[in-house]
Amino acid sequence: MPPLHERLMELAVSRGFLLPSAEIYNAPGGFYDYGPAGAALKRHIQEQWRRIFITEPGFLEIESCNVLPQAVLVASGHVEHFADPVTECTKCHQRYRADHLLEQKTLSSWAGLSPSDLNAGIKEHKLACSNCKGELGPIAWVNLMFPTYIGAGIENQAFLRPETAQGMFLDFKRLFVQQGSKLPLAVGQIGRSYRNEVSPRQGLIRSREFSQMELEYFFSPMQDKIEGFEKIENETVRVLPPTDGDAPLAVEDVSLRDAVSRGYFPNEILAYMVYLEDRLYRSLGITHGKYRFRVMPRDELPHYSKGNVDLEAETSYGFIETSGIAYRTDFDLSQHAKHSKQDLSVFVDEEKKRLIPHVVEPSMGVDRTLWCVLESAYRPAGNGKEWEWFAFPPRIAPFVAGVFPLMKKDGLDELAQNLTAVLRAAGLEVYYSQSGSIGKRYARADEIGVPYCITIDYETKEKAHEAGGPTVTIRYRDDGQQERVEISELAAKLLQLVKSDKVRKE
Ligand code: GLY
Repeated sequence: MPPLHERLMELAVSRGFLLPSAEIYNAPGGFYDYGPAGAALKRHIQEQWRRIFITEPGFLEIESCNVLPQAVLVASGHVEHFADPVTECTKCHQRYRADHLLEQKTLSSWAGLSPSDLNAGIKEHKLACSNCKGELGPIAWVNLMFPTYIGAGIENQAFLRPETAQGMFLDFKRLFVQQGSKLPLAVGQIGRSYRNEVSPRQGLIRSREFSQMELEYFFSPMQDKIEGFEKIENETVRVLPPTDGDAPLAVEDVSLRDAVSRGYFPNEILAYMVYLEDRLYRSLGITHGKYRFRVMPRDELPHYSKGNVDLEAETSYGFIETSGIAYRTDFDLSQHAKHSKQDLSVFVDEEKKRLIPHVVEPSMGVDRTLWCVLESAYRPAGNGKEWEWFAFPPRIAPFVAGVFPLMKKDGLDELAQNLTAVLRAAGLEVYYSQSGSIGKRYARADEIGVPYCITIDYETKEKAHEAGGPTVTIRYRDDGQQERVEISELAAKLLQLVKSDKVRKE
């Protein structure tokens, strides 16, 4: 049996979730287009993030530019530090990520080690070029950003942004004033980011163009509480605490309050963001036991950080970091103030003084999360279905329903097309299909995880003019069972089913 991720990638491509970008030109890897089913699934995942991180808490949303002048990324540290350790074959000049080569060989992490440690590792494990068996050269740092120029002048160096986060820092001062000069201030965005990986791998997990959902929660360091924490402090999350010497790591289900008091999370604000990420993953149908919040040990933290917590999801690639939350103190705004020579401090009434706000940043990868959703919703053939299918929660499925005439004749097709238009006008994302047997159409719907199928049959037609109105059948995806519903109630019924997550008749 091939690993699940190989099979899933085949299904994702054949069923229109993913398309290898510029495939007809045999383009370099690490770029994926989203097909119709994938684009819809991605949009619905992003809508859940927007609901949980922006609309419900009343935070702000922006959309900032993808091209950033070099000066921004010098200030942020990306020009100097955002690089991977690369070794080049001295014979055929093939390049490799040194830490990845060592990871494959030793099955342990080499992330963050110095070039001399990596050089020593390559020698000790006798690594050679997998292409030509040539000797591997010394480590060089290769910056991960895509360079470009603004306008005609090559002196105007710029880069495609490596993260969306910089947009929130750059826009902070104006937003602060527009919003009444008050802290806390929380601003987020969803958008594309770009990283020119040396060796993209693991499909969507490490691609060169990807989407992020990031939020910056700006606050006074003297006020590190968050409104509403008392309502959620007893919620439990699964935490992987930092290592204690050589003690084996063990996950704990711990309340947010205890996670703060034990020092796993540096403050309530970060704990609140863990709660929001946990809510998002649950709303996407990712099973609780399939992810954990890993607390980064102090010696792994960047010098400016007061705490990092990574959301790690268990996939067929192993545990993958799909999201992170970082308490970045005032590092980013201070750097931009220094390099731009602008005053980014603000006056805080409670403290009666000016200060540079601190920030907690929950940063979530859309594509990695979508991959986790695919893995989590995948169902092999069996239990009454002869095909592989996806059990997405109805709120994120590519379509709410497929609308099918039993036969494409006798006016059933026209009735079904009219019903499709009515459901779309009611704001429901449905698709129409009349080709193939009804059984095949049910199977195709299951294959992209559509939770409900609506069928117009001869009974619908015969009762079209009767009192009480005509009826259609709703077929439930998970058990394949059907029930009859009056057409006049169908839109409301579908909305209710989506809301209640109902995917079986009983
Ligand atoms: N802003 C954090 C990240 O892109 O990983």
